[in-house]
Amino acid sequence: MRQALVAGNWKMHGGLKANAVLMQELVDGVAALDRVDVSVCPPFVYVPQVSQCSGDKIALGAQNLATEVSGAFTGEVSGEMLKELGCAYVIVGHSERRTLYGEDDDCVAVKFARALDAGLKPILCVGESLEQRESGVTEAVISQQLDAVLERSDISAFAQAVIAYEPVWAIGTGRTASPEQAQAVHAHIRQRLAKHDAKIAAQIQILYGGSVKPDNAAELFQQADIDGGLIGGASLKAADFLAICRAAQ
Ligand code: G3P
Repeated sequence: MRQALVAGNWKMHGGLKANAVLMQELVDGVAALDRVDVSVCPPFVYVPQVSQCSGDKIALGAQNLATEVSGAFTGEVSGEMLKELGCAYVIVGHSERRTLYGEDDDCVAVKFARALDAGLKPILCVGESLEQRESGVTEAVISQQLDAVLERSDISAFAQAVIAYEPVWAIGTGRTASPEQAQAVHAHIRQRLAKHDAKIAAQIQILYGGSVKPDNAAELFQQADIDGGLIGGASLKAADFLAICRAAQ
């Protein structure tokens, strides 16, 4: 049986005062939750603050990492630095990194490997555009994104990873994939990995992300291959994020 995981991707939001208030509400709220793993992924600059106030039931994550370990890479942050600051997870290949910052499949594969080298658990994001879905190539796109990682990392690496299926057309749009649409892609992901290692495929947590809200979370999380969520906007509101965490229990 896979443990549920709900991770909050704060994206480029937050502030020292707001973070302190949000984190206190989340720490108080997760105290009663024992059948779901919870993580928050703040912007880099707030990782130290959040690390100090996340308690022992909220794992810290980051939203990105460098492809390099150290050196003359102005503005970059390495996985080793994130590990040193207490991060357990790091989001890799979010569609916003892919579309806005030119991270192609191979760059994402390098970051996946770098995260593992640094002792972090990568949350590998995959997902299709609306045009790709309407063209009927969703599964081919997801397979290509997975295969690019498998070309650089052995299937055994996925024993220490999480996958997040985030249809690009559902991110921040309020247009959530139906439970059936999401389940079909999650099953495809698990079947694709099972071709390499059935045990790892059965054990890996596959999260859904894309307009998850308190009123749609339970039906999504009831699906056989949906093991929780990667939450954007709703992760910035304590009541909503906690409601989603409860729905994952
Ligand atoms: O990484 C999660 C994010 O892309 C989903 O955003 O606002 O649709 O929950 P949102």
